[in-house]
Amino acid sequence: MADEKKQNPLEKIANSQVWKSIFRTGIPVTRRQRMMAILNNVFLHLHPVRLPKHAVKIKYTWCMGGLSFFLFLVLTISGILLMFYYRPTVEYAYTDIIDLTEQVPLGVMREIHRWGAHAMVIAVWLHMFRVFMTGSYKPPREFNWSVGVLLMVITMFLSFTGYLLPWDQLAIWAVTVGTNMARAHPFIGHEGPGASLLAIGDINLVHAGSDIRFALLGGRFVGEATLLRFYVLHCIGVPFIAMILMAVHFWRVRKDGGISGPL
Ligand code: HEM
Repeated sequence: MADEKKQNPLEKIANSQVWKSIFRTGIPVTRRQRMMAILNNVFLHLHPVRLPKHAVKIKYTWCMGGLSFFLFLVLTISGILLMFYYRPTVEYAYTDIIDLTEQVPLGVMREIHRWGAHAMVIAVWLHMFRVFMTGSYKPPREFNWSVGVLLMVITMFLSFTGYLLPWDQLAIWAVTVGTNMARAHPFIGHEGPGASLLAIGDINLVHAGSDIRFALLGGRFVGEATLLRFYVLHCIGVPFIAMILMAVHFWRVRKDGGISGPL
């Protein structure tokens, strides 16, 4: 009884049954408890338990990996807010974006989303450059480098799919050019090398009406179906894959012995 009286409100919460059922470690005081607090938490355990000093030095990491993730979170939150307003149809898409730009505070959200996307592309490239310059792609980190390459492709694809959504001339022609390039993709583009090899007898499996360009456009030209496809890919499909890959990427940094260091 006397002990209970001495507890301050924070300690009371930390010692309550509800708190303990969620956070098994209680308030971490010792080194071991701090370690257990990280290991027992589904989100925190993706992060290394211990960090060498160089790993938190801006001079070594440039913090570009962390910044890329931070920008991804900013883009997710601002993107969800934009989804409340924007309608992905030929009739409304363009005017919704004009309205959004002029509305406050959603107008600010659009700017945050747009500038955030530019910043994320730059941050991811700089992060890759840093990893390369510090030789952090070498064993045992070669798998995480490959996961990184996928994350890079996904970041670029997020930008590409988002670019169509304002449905202005710039967007429509940029996506026309981009998807025209897809027709030359090896094997899955009908004009690409190897596409003619994918045939059953005389029947070509990869043609203008079944290749990757057709799948992206939902037809042969940029139109209503393309807008809907890009919207779904931009808002759900690609971010979903990105989140899974990021979880693997962070967890793998830990499994590879933490962030690499100067030799
Ligand atoms: C969405 C994109 C990405 C995010 C959010 C991300 C995030 C991170 C974070 C937070 C770290 C911890 C160290 C640091 O901050 O520098 C890291 C490490 C690493 N990343 Fe990325 N990354 C991304 C893309 C890439 C790309 C494009 C590559 C390379 C192709 C890459 C390869 C690596 C490697 C090899 C490590 C371990 C580095 C070391 O041990 O020093 N990542 N990443």
